[in-house]
Amino acid sequence: MHLSDRALGNEVQLVRKLYDLSKAYDSVVDLTLGDPDIPTPPLIREAAERAMENNKTKYTANAGIPELREAISRDVAERTGIRYSADEITVTAGAMGALYLTSCVLLNPGDEIIVLEPHWPNYSAMVRMCGAVPRFVSFLGEENLRNLAENIRALVNGRTRAVIINSPSNPTGRVLPMKTLEEIAQIAEEADLTVITDEVYRTIVFDGSFRSMLEIPGMKERTVLIDSFSKRFSMTGFRVGFLCAPKEIALNAARLEENVNSCACQFAQIACTAALENAHALEKEISDIFERRCRAMARELQKSRRIRMEAPQSTFYLFPDITATGLSSEEFAYRLLREKQIALVPGNAFNKAGEGYIRIACTLPEEKLVSAAREIVEFADRE
Ligand SMILES: Cc1ncc(COP(=O)(O)O)c(C=O)c1O
Repeated sequence: MHLSDRALGNEVQLVRKLYDLSKAYDSVVDLTLGDPDIPTPPLIREAAERAMENNKTKYTANAGIPELREAISRDVAERTGIRYSADEITVTAGAMGALYLTSCVLLNPGDEIIVLEPHWPNYSAMVRMCGAVPRFVSFLGEENLRNLAENIRALVNGRTRAVIINSPSNPTGRVLPMKTLEEIAQIAEEADLTVITDEVYRTIVFDGSFRSMLEIPGMKERTVLIDSFSKRFSMTGFRVGFLCAPKEIALNAARLEENVNSCACQFAQIACTAALENAHALEKEISDIFERRCRAMARELQKSRRIRMEAPQSTFYLFPDITATGLSSEEFAYRLLREKQIALVPGNAFNKAGEGYIRIACTLPEEKLVSAAREIVEFADRE
């Protein structure tokens, strides 16, 4: 059978590999996937159920239902001061749908895109699915952050089309400071690049430090905002996300959507509209849970002689440095699974800048996380 280079070149991600391996154990503590255990708030579920009872189980416009696009427009305006019109918003099947359509709209085969690493591996996979080439720049650690602008400039050439940033970041849980956003904005302007800003974790920030690329004057015209309901309202399975972008990008994304998903699920879109009407209370409750969990787990990990764990800042991921154990990220993850039945993700799953780190998703109740953290410390500190 003949299979495409695209299919054959798409390797199984290490995140999935660890998740799959963990299933071989009966009582494993699984901290691999970014899928929170918190149930979807009842108000959102009930809105979906009502919508189904009212037969809202059909196709919608490619760009999504008008009520949801209006609610998104209000929500984005409230936090950034930037107002998008309905034709600058395309609702998609999750942020993944928004990222894939954006890649299809912006990239031709051979084009290049700059990705800040360590990064969520789907970015580079999607870019490659479009025949384009991801180029990586590390933002991990103070020195890399200080030299980021210089390192990005060194990669920009005539084929560079865009930069992808993800703040708050999966896997690092760090937020990009305004100074860094301004430097990236300046390069984008100089080199006529689009900035794709993936902000799906922006409501899960513990120190108020999050700033958006959109706040920088003039950036609305060259930015694609990617966002989602998945993490913010604990509704990953509803598969609804969106992009906000200059009209020609949003309209072309909606046209391509016709050939990919046609549209996002209708009753899920109605549930998302209800979620946005109650956004503040719902998202605060979820963010508070993650803050308590991340802080409790980080406190335990900080007791280790060999694990370096900074104070958590955002998301529900911890990304401690384990280089002092003398193990590679993968050795650490595979041995921990075998010896302690705790599954987490080696940092190199997020590209080479992540080597020497592990990613822990705080997607279990606090007591389970704390006892897993004690086991991880015992493992790391063992002679
Ligand atoms: C940074 C980042 N962006 C996007 C997504 C995908 O979100 P969605 O469920 O909306 O497709 C994820 C999921 O883990 C993520 O970590």
